[in-house]
Amino acid sequence: MDAERLRKDFPLLALGDEATRPIYLDSACQTLRPKCVLDAMHEYYSSFPACAGRSSHKLATEVDIRCDDARTKASTFFNAADPAEIAFLKNATEGLNTVIFGSGLRRGDEVLTTDYEHNSVHVPLVHAQQEIGIRRRIVASRDDGTFDLEAFKNALNTEVRLVAMCLTSNVTGYTLPAKAMVEIAHDHGAKVLLDAAQAAPSTRLNVQAMGVDYLVVSAHKMLGPSGVGIMYASAECSRTLRPLTFGGHGVTDTTFDSYELLSPPERFEAGLQNYSGIIGTGAALEYLDRVGLEEIREHERSLNKRMTRRLMDVSGITILEPSDPNLRAGMLAFNVAGVSHHDVAMILDHSRNILLRAGKLCCHSLFEARRLDGCVRASAYLYNTPAEIDAFSQAVEDIATKL
Ligand SMILES: Cc1ncc(COP(=O)(O)O)c(C=O)c1O
Repeated sequence: MDAERLRKDFPLLALGDEATRPIYLDSACQTLRPKCVLDAMHEYYSSFPACAGRSSHKLATEVDIRCDDARTKASTFFNAADPAEIAFLKNATEGLNTVIFGSGLRRGDEVLTTDYEHNSVHVPLVHAQQEIGIRRRIVASRDDGTFDLEAFKNALNTEVRLVAMCLTSNVTGYTLPAKAMVEIAHDHGAKVLLDAAQAAPSTRLNVQAMGVDYLVVSAHKMLGPSGVGIMYASAECSRTLRPLTFGGHGVTDTTFDSYELLSPPERFEAGLQNYSGIIGTGAALEYLDRVGLEEIREHERSLNKRMTRRLMDVSGITILEPSDPNLRAGMLAFNVAGVSHHDVAMILDHSRNILLRAGKLCCHSLFEARRLDGCVRASAYLYNTPAEIDAFSQAVEDIATKL
């Protein structure tokens, strides 16, 4: 993969000169967008700024065609059996909430989860515990940051209705053994909700081969626009899954006393949608396919190895486990002794133009379990170069050794 060539596709990376151009290492939050995605979104507003699924005029028909095309692309991208298994929502959080509150969980039902979860899984589950009375159990990770499959196996029983888990942690980049977990969960009659927000940008996910029941991702972490999430729900599950939002376009018929929902996926897409975002998402998936997810993964990993190798022995730097970069995606989470994570991020931004994230990364419970008050997270993606990684590593080493 030729990162230097790909960088030309990203307008932000063409601004200014070498000295003023930012080193963007916050892709786990949002990736940059290539021009083809911006063009696809702009084309919607400039050439057919209408509404899908309602009016039948020319412009609306064009929106229908483009949105159907994006849905088909997403379906092929994740190897769903049918585009009807793909719904476009406003983000991954909406997909996670839809499944947690719409899949029929009742008082006393057990949900098994992990200690890696982002607040977008964790908070709806705590809320479901308080409001519905579900019972929530958490499988803790090992001290070395890896997942304890034995503990997961032992925690499963036939009372568990749902396993809600991330595929890749947004803190450490560690990927859980999802295929094995899905098999074990299914053996016990539980459905599996996979939060693949951090895995999908650089992993070929095949929902049928994985056998997963529900999967959600964020378009904005995979070169797509902000404000779009993709929810996969298998045909079997989506038949009974209740929407989170009800209203116009989600129904076939209403009376003063009743309503009839449309078939999936339209029932999950009530109200006027983010058409430019959906169309832009289709363009982003096409771009990722052109570059190749395996190549992106390889590139990310080699950058991660480079920064890990450089920083792991620097005095004062602690890497959040697992420290082996082969076990992590393009992410490195670390702390510098004696300097707060926020100060590290601020110094990197203000003195070296290096942009990354610091804090508890929407994963407060994991930090509490590890007794840490936060970390700095550098996340590399397809447009980052070895030279950028070296500049970042040098800057962190300087903070650790010279401050
Ligand atoms: C693992 C994980 N799950 C869920 C989310 C929430 O995604 P969204 O902002 O699309 O709702 C994030 C965002 O950072 C994430 O990293």
